[in-house]
This record gives sequence, C-alpha cells and structure tokens, in this order.
Amino acid sequence: MLKPLRIVLWAAVALAVAGVAAYVYLDRQNSVATAPTVAIGGPFKLAASTGGIVDSAQLKGQPFAVFFGFTHCPDVCPTTLYEMSSALGKLGDEAKDLKVFFITVDPERDTTEFLKSYLTSFDPRIVGLRPTPDELPQVAKSYRVFYEKVASEDGDYTMNHTALVYLMDREGKFFGTLDYEEKPEVRLAKLRRLLKEE
Ligand code: NI
Repeated sequence: MLKPLRIVLWAAVALAVAGVAAYVYLDRQNSVATAPTVAIGGPFKLAASTGGIVDSAQLKGQPFAVFFGFTHCPDVCPTTLYEMSSALGKLGDEAKDLKVFFITVDPERDTTEFLKSYLTSFDPRIVGLRPTPDELPQVAKSYRVFYEKVASEDGDYTMNHTALVYLMDREGKFFGTLDYEEKPEVRLAKLRRLLKEE
C-alpha cells in the first residue's frame, strides 16, 4: 500500500504531467506556431505479450494508448486496466482497431508470458509490452513517466509509477491523457475524440 504522503507526492507528479498535457493540447487547439511544444512519446520496439515485437513505426495511421505499470500492482494498475476494458467494451466496434499498450516498469518479474496470463482478465485489445531493463529508462523517459522501486515490509518490493494513460494519434503524436479515476463518461468522450481525429 502507498503511504498517504506518497500518494500526495505522486498525485502532484501526475498533475504536473497533466499540466504539460493540457498546455500541449491548448497549443494544438490554437495552432500557435511559436509556442514551445513538449514532446511526449517516442518510437519503441518492444517484446509483446501477444508474441513477437511491437514496433511503433508500424502503428502509423492507427491511434493507440499507452499505460505504464506492473502486474504486482495492488490497486492502480488493475483499476486502470479494468476501467480501460470497460471503456473499450462500451465503444465496441467503434474502437475495434484501438490498441492499448500496458508497458511494464517491472521487467524483472513481468515476463511476456506473465503479462500474457495477467492480461487475460482484461479486454484483448490491451497488449502487454516488456522493455528489457536496458530499454525501460529510454521508453519511460520518452513518455515523461516516473517510476521507482520501493522495498516493501515483507522483504519484497513494489513500484511507484505515473498513473496516466497516454493517448497517441494516428501520426503517433501525443493527443491527451486519461486520468486515474476520472468519470467514465469523460474517458469515453476523450477516446471518441481520439478515434474521430483525422
Ligand atoms: Ni500500478
């Protein structure tokens, strides 16, 4: 379990990232050519729970979503995956091509096989990706994602991590975020906007 102070700190981190996201979104809306843009996301080639490699270059023309987490997560990750599955279920065929990538920040324990069996509880459009310990810092950095290993009382460890879902458009550019525990209708509206964007 996260201590209250940690929750507050991580909420602050999430808000800071959301602030950047809102700024980028406004920038897009206003087409202000001179405003600085903050790049969120970048190319990746990672081992997938569905077998083989997912190469972001092959996703061109297709929007996708990215979430960082780990399978031993007690609450935030399963909740996010559950909420995402529920949204995908409601969107049905509207989101039939939408891929959602769950990138583990705990590659030590989360093998692709483990990710595969864990994700059977959720919508099949959610694909697990496992960066190697060497690949993880780069992909997390490109999404401005924070993660850290924390020793737990039982001598094991847990991971703290950013809990935002990143929405990426057909060009592979940052489109916006889904925020932890926001209203389901807000989440659905954001996903619909992403899917309709040309
Ligand atoms: Ni988590």
